[in-house]
Amino acid sequence: MDTPLFTPAKLGPLTLRNRSIRAAAFEGMSPGHMVSDDLIDYHRAVSAGGVAMTTVAYAAVSQSGLSFDHQLWLRKEAVPGLKKLTDAVHAEGSFAAIQIGHCGLMAKKSVSGGLCFAPSGKFNLYGPTWPKTMTREEIKSVVTDFGRAVNLSREAGFDGVEVHAGHGYLISQFLSLYTNKRKDEYGESFENRTRFMREVIQEVMKAAGKDITVVVKMNLRDGFHGGMEMDESIEVARLLESEGVHGLVLSGGFVSKAPMHVMRGRMPVDVMAAALKKDKWMKPMLKWFGSMLMKPEPFSEGYFLEDALKVRDALTLPLIYVGGLVSLEKIGEVLGKGFEFVQIARALINDPAFINKLKSGEITRSDCKHSNYCIAVMYSGKMKCFQHVTTPYACLIKPSKWSSTSSIFPTVTKCAIRFFDTRNTL
Ligand SMILES: Cc1cc2nc3c(=O)[nH]c(=O)nc-3n(C[C@H](O)[C@H](O)[C@H](O)COP(=O)(O)O)c2cc1C
Ligand code: SF4
Repeated sequence: MDTPLFTPAKLGPLTLRNRSIRAAAFEGMSPGHMVSDDLIDYHRAVSAGGVAMTTVAYAAVSQSGLSFDHQLWLRKEAVPGLKKLTDAVHAEGSFAAIQIGHCGLMAKKSVSGGLCFAPSGKFNLYGPTWPKTMTREEIKSVVTDFGRAVNLSREAGFDGVEVHAGHGYLISQFLSLYTNKRKDEYGESFENRTRFMREVIQEVMKAAGKDITVVVKMNLRDGFHGGMEMDESIEVARLLESEGVHGLVLSGGFVSKAPMHVMRGRMPVDVMAAALKKDKWMKPMLKWFGSMLMKPEPFSEGYFLEDALKVRDALTLPLIYVGGLVSLEKIGEVLGKGFEFVQIARALINDPAFINKLKSGEITRSDCKHSNYCIAVMYSGKMKCFQHVTTPYACLIKPSKWSSTSSIFPTVTKCAIRFFDTRNTL
């Protein structure tokens, strides 16, 4: 098939070998908030598998921005491990980027140094957390943390950073009227709600200088009534373009309110509850109210395309499409409609060699069925595609029993997983 996917293109100071980027997707492979060999191996594998750039998932710019165990914390001590990772990626001919962010009201006190702050002290049912309202000093300090994170990323050998300004993380919490109830210069009007984002981006661009590519992942829509909608997101995109960022990743959804808007489909809440074995709040909440908390949303291939095209019409900077890409045909369509790059998460969790297999003609479509098991188990430090675990009745048993039963019924397992894949497909 004739496709622009395998042609090189520029993103900031970099020329990528093709148009594919591995999207930031939490690997859960950072015990002690540090790099593990598993994390290095995974990014080496997707790089060897053909992507032009791989993005290491969410790294907190400070301890107060940590929301999970096994999540990266971008600090001096993490640099040597990250350097090994970027060396491995470069050896395979890819570039390495890292997503930097702060989670605000989603901070988990047991790992965030007891801190949890947000634009406003609004209860977060998913935590549960009741964050304190950020002071101006705290706002300034997080802005500085973003700049420091860029410098540490450079030291660790990264070619690019992706600022997380979507999905209901801290910048997105400032942008959204749902979470920003402030009455000062950071709240109410659009200009005020975008102030924190602009301050962060100015700090990031200053630190990035001429050698680091900066992209921003932002929401098209928050995904619920009362959240950010297209009229404002187009203006947010314009602001980011005027600040000189090199590209935008267009996504959507709000983890603490509309999580399925990000990935679509249904969350296998039984698996998630089992994976959250130590969480005394979320485990029962998921068991009893799972499908209410994580309201399913229908999946269609390229589900953000219609909204993303509205941003394409309004802006000229490089745009990176993400969301539900599983086939060569749809990737070709998206690139043909003016997006310079595509980001892919689940098809590369399913098979790190997805891009090379498309290139060689071995496949034209991923085997990923958007069943979202990989998300359900990522909190347990086991982010994996369930088509590749040899565990019988994966969603009925506890993760601790997986290894002991894994060798017994591999065939039954595959059938069971296929069955649950279908059941969870929307
Ligand atoms: C297991 C998993 C973890 C994710 N973690 C992150 C994350 O840390 N940061 C982020 O911005 N998006 C995260 N996402 C969302 C993806 O980056 C992407 O936006 C979404 O999955 C849609 O792309 P896809 O259809 O190619 O999977 C995650 C997705 C998955 C499947
Ligand atoms: S098939 Fe399911 S578990 Fe595997 S990558 Fe796709 S969504 Fe994740």
